[in-house]
Amino acid sequence: MADPALDAFFAALWADYERVAPRVAALRGALEARGERVVNDHVAFRTFAGAPLGIAALEPHLLALGYHRFEPYAFEDKHLDAWAYLHDAPGAPRVFLSELRRGALSPAAERVIDGLLAQVDPARVARADVLWAGPLWEPVPFAVYEALAAESEYAGWLAALGLRANHFTVSVNHLATLPTLDALLAAVEAAGAVISEAGGRVKGGPAARLEQASTRADRAPVAFADGEREIPTCYYEFARRYPDADGALYQGFVPASASRLFESTHRHAPGGRP
Ligand code: NI
Repeated sequence: MADPALDAFFAALWADYERVAPRVAALRGALEARGERVVNDHVAFRTFAGAPLGIAALEPHLLALGYHRFEPYAFEDKHLDAWAYLHDAPGAPRVFLSELRRGALSPAAERVIDGLLAQVDPARVARADVLWAGPLWEPVPFAVYEALAAESEYAGWLAALGLRANHFTVSVNHLATLPTLDALLAAVEAAGAVISEAGGRVKGGPAARLEQASTRADRAPVAFADGEREIPTCYYEFARRYPDADGALYQGFVPASASRLFESTHRHAPGGRP
């Protein structure tokens, strides 16, 4: 990327990701061991809408790194809104930032989220390293996490894991020995990963200009008010982009695909361990 600020940003995100999702993060090493140079297509963040943590509060950190808004997206069934951000530096990963709409869940769930947000220090949110800070609140009881996740897996994940990269994404376009998504998926399965089947093994395709797949989320012990429990954390995504009619590589995201990729962190999706 040859931009020290961007390099430091992604190195910090990766170090955190490796800590909470060590088995899926190890896939990068497995690809490098076969001679690949792994290029990151994008990272994605999750947050709660509104002050003090919504997109409006976090976006300035991306703009300060040189990112600019590309396109907004909405996911009605999951009560999410999102923006994609692009950077002009060659090879800079895209960033996808989504937020959970307030008022979309039950009054009980909203009270839990209000209680979390009431603990957030706006001065902490103003620091760039908030994007890998984890939870900005005291751990909730495990039963509260489960009740929240039963309504919105996204809300449960965010309450337990807080702010951090939800996934990194291998750019299939940049691989030398694995030219297709299918070939890459076979290689990551051989390295021990389980592919998420939510919405099918492969989401999108050449007609959508974007073809994606993901592992199931890794699992790690996470602190709850009543002790540590192992829950789904972060996953690895794989993306192949195709040229538009004008020959330029497609830069956006495909909501129908992204909606099912969100489900890579679900607690009870079929498919076993990561
Ligand atoms: Ni993604």
